[in-house]
Amino acid sequence: MSEKTCAVPPAFSAHHVVSGEAYQALYQQALADPDGFWVSQARRLLTWYQPPTKGFSGSLRDGNIRWFEDGTLNASFNCLDRHVAAGHGDEVAIIWEPNDPKDAPRRLTYLQLLDRVERAANVLKALGVGKGDRVCIYLQMIPELAIAMLACARIGAIHSVVFGAFSASALRDRINDCGAKVLITQDAGWRGNKSVTMKQSADAACAETPSIEHVLVVKHTGADVPMQPERDLSWEGLLAAASATCPPEPMDAEQPLFILYTSGSTGKPKGVVHTTGGYLTYAAYTHELVFDYRPGEVFWCTADCGWITGHSYVVYGPLANRATVLMYEGVPSYPDFGRFWQIVAKHRVNIFYTAPTALRALRAKGDAFVIGHDRSTLRILGTVGEPIKAPEWEWYRAVVGEGRCPIVDTWWQTETGGILISPLPGATPTKPGSATFPLPGVRAVVLDEAGNELGDPKATGLLAIAASWPGMLRDIWGDRARFLQTYLQPFPGYYLTGDGCRRDPDGYYWITGRVDDIMIVSGHNIGTAEVEGAIGAHPAVAEAAVVGIADDITGQAICAFVILKAGHEGSPGLADEINQLVRKIIGPHANLKQIRFTPALPKTRSGKIMRRLLRDVAEGRELGDVTTLEDPAAVAALIEAVRV
Ligand code: WTA
Repeated sequence: MSEKTCAVPPAFSAHHVVSGEAYQALYQQALADPDGFWVSQARRLLTWYQPPTKGFSGSLRDGNIRWFEDGTLNASFNCLDRHVAAGHGDEVAIIWEPNDPKDAPRRLTYLQLLDRVERAANVLKALGVGKGDRVCIYLQMIPELAIAMLACARIGAIHSVVFGAFSASALRDRINDCGAKVLITQDAGWRGNKSVTMKQSADAACAETPSIEHVLVVKHTGADVPMQPERDLSWEGLLAAASATCPPEPMDAEQPLFILYTSGSTGKPKGVVHTTGGYLTYAAYTHELVFDYRPGEVFWCTADCGWITGHSYVVYGPLANRATVLMYEGVPSYPDFGRFWQIVAKHRVNIFYTAPTALRALRAKGDAFVIGHDRSTLRILGTVGEPIKAPEWEWYRAVVGEGRCPIVDTWWQTETGGILISPLPGATPTKPGSATFPLPGVRAVVLDEAGNELGDPKATGLLAIAASWPGMLRDIWGDRARFLQTYLQPFPGYYLTGDGCRRDPDGYYWITGRVDDIMIVSGHNIGTAEVEGAIGAHPAVAEAAVVGIADDITGQAICAFVILKAGHEGSPGLADEINQLVRKIIGPHANLKQIRFTPALPKTRSGKIMRRLLRDVAEGRELGDVTTLEDPAAVAALIEAVRV
């Protein structure tokens, strides 16, 4: 691993919102008086009906986490009304770039966005949606997605956005878990030259979602979709007829803003709950600090709003900070691999934030796709979602950023609400592949397997956080026990991240990846248990175990070991059937790269599948210690496993 250090460009240390010395001062201030620090950030960044006087109350030990509990605010007001009231209504809030570069972009000023959000909020209210009710949003990356989220926030409804590529059954399960009353979807969508059905999946899901009373359908491609009388309603029709005045609902800081599902290492996905005051403070704080954001700049985060990165850095953080946000409907490869840079040139993007998987794919296609497009407006480049390796990092910096833009490799999770570990462009000398240091206010630690804090700078172990921060999740929807068991009980007094990490002698953090049974495929978290369940739904399958294996483009790829029921034989045709089933049950992002039929799986005497061994087999490595195996012969069978 490269330990080369890149200095802060002089232009940055002089102008960044936080320079080197100021960063140290801020870090120390936050450490010495966390409550004072966070209350002042919350009051500085947001506009409150009742400004908070309290910072953190509760305890990481019992999981009763509360931030700014005597404060009241509204997230939609903070993202819209206050900017309009301060005379910025004509500034562009969202530039929407469509999938097809020949189609015209859409621009929504803060005033226009506010108008849409107020109308949408009134539509939801008229459908009986009120404070605390859940609304499921199943849309592609179109402006209506941000409008729907902010409309929910305006009336205190809790949104649950489901990634637009999720299957009907994944959508159904997420709707049923949170008991959403209304579903917002679109007729169909575009991804490159493919049309993706949306309403059709929504219909299939809603056949088994008793809580859904209405489906609001956005007309986007104009595809002819059946509308179920009474249940299905036209978004455009209702918005046009709705009043454009809808006062924001004052919310207690701790009232939920949204639920977002993420994969767990066991069982079904977890509905991560974020609350209004702490989350919004944290999203705004990190967006300003990490991206050195100044109003007037064009900020582009390529993440889909179906994931946390889209929540925090397409919608809430940037809009709270009055940014101009670029929202892109399509994929990096359409119509060619230069599309990202063509968009950067077209909309004069200043700050660009994407995932290492996209960089790997684009780098593999060659520099010619980058060079032809003007990137002189770019000032800062960010990455998120998985470890970035030195070659991609160097390419990003040298080729995309012309050696001029600092790289911010940001480490965080759905559960953390915002970035926890990252360089600051004006303060932190970077090392390719390291997320560098925790942000001011974040107490990152490295623990050994027994939960002891490793004190020396140089340490390798489990990444944990030793004090709560405002953006932290508060619960798993409907499953308090799982929330406690997953994050807080393993090491009392710490939030356990599930990631391994190494800290070098200079104190830099290097994230080494998940230590639990979660895979990260093209930056998407996928639980092994979820995929195994989907494979098991095939009638020929007796048992399955999946592992993530290294992949040049997707980071990790899914490899499945499958035991068939008696009377069935492994074949490419059967492998394909199984893969299609998984894609149908979970979504195309859960594609199985390899399927190996095997007569047995290696298990410990307590019956736990030894995934480490499976990974060794799948990646063709020497096998490690097999002494705890219940049936060592299973290993021989595995190595012989038919590879399809
Ligand atoms: C991984 C995405 C290394 C990590 C915001 C984490 C990273 C999981 C980085 C969360 C990074 C995210 N370097 N690994 N910069 N950023 N990860 O919930 O394993 O989709 O636990 O949140 O992604 O993924 P999630």
